[in-house]
Amino acid sequence: MNSKPKVFLTRRILQAGIDLLQTQCEVSIFPYERLITIPELIENVHDADALLCMLTDPIDDEVIRAASHLKVISNFAVGYNNINIEAAKNHNIIVTNTPGVLTETTAETAFALMIACARRITESDRWIRTHNFDGWAPMLFLGHDLYRKTLGIIGLGRIGKAFARRASRGFDMKILYLDKVRDTEFEKEYDARCVTKQELLQESDFISIHTPLTAETKHFIGEKEFSMMKTTACLINTARGPIVDEKALIEALQNKKIFSAGLDVFEDEPFIPKELIDLDNVVILPHIGSASVETRTKMSVMAAENIISVLNGEEPHSRVT
Ligand code: DGY
Repeated sequence: MNSKPKVFLTRRILQAGIDLLQTQCEVSIFPYERLITIPELIENVHDADALLCMLTDPIDDEVIRAASHLKVISNFAVGYNNINIEAAKNHNIIVTNTPGVLTETTAETAFALMIACARRITESDRWIRTHNFDGWAPMLFLGHDLYRKTLGIIGLGRIGKAFARRASRGFDMKILYLDKVRDTEFEKEYDARCVTKQELLQESDFISIHTPLTAETKHFIGEKEFSMMKTTACLINTARGPIVDEKALIEALQNKKIFSAGLDVFEDEPFIPKELIDLDNVVILPHIGSASVETRTKMSVMAAENIISVLNGEEPHSRVT
């Protein structure tokens, strides 16, 4: 009897995905609730047929070379900048991700950050717990409205569109966007305008990043860009940390060059600079963009299905390479 193919998971995921994998594979899961190290990864993938990994796992050339049986790398995320795609291709390993299922949840997280930044929600919450609130005051925690303001979307993919839809339908916001590809249908439906980077930076009250991290988008927002933004602007990043030059962001926030920032991702994740933590005009989240029970369940099933398809010689749902 042929033995079952081996799957290694770098982290425990929601049970639905594990159950599915166990119907056809021998499943082993990294037993600790922490990031796996490269040596641990190498030790565990050497005889695996499939790897189910997290966006926090650097699947580099060294790891791929050590995994001589590997047929598929299933990333438990839509972004896959943690994987050396060229190395995977060179070793005929298929890489898959989990697009679509996390679109609305991530757009909701970005929206939560936008409201929190505009209306100083987390800052007020921190303050009321540590101060003696002696009553309503006309100047207490003044923020900015979202209603009918201008929203600039960087990257009009699935999540960018879901975010824009909420802003346009719910808050009557004017939508500007920056993308290599124009979407005239979307423009018509949401009265949106495709603009240059300069126009987007100068005209937007809120700017939200929804583009993947690539060599081209690294530090897409830096010192020069902050100097072009309105002093009342809020920057939201739920995409990937290195798209924003974090040093320049800290400087912009410290010197009130912009009003606020809402971040779910960081340049050198999981490290967060103390200067950022110390600031009141930033809302920070521990990369929970897709963290709802419903969505993480769907992601676990999709990541498992991608593995099973490849191991059965079928085309996976969402193939990156
Ligand atoms: C992804 O899937 O790339 C997101 O960052 C998860 O929150």
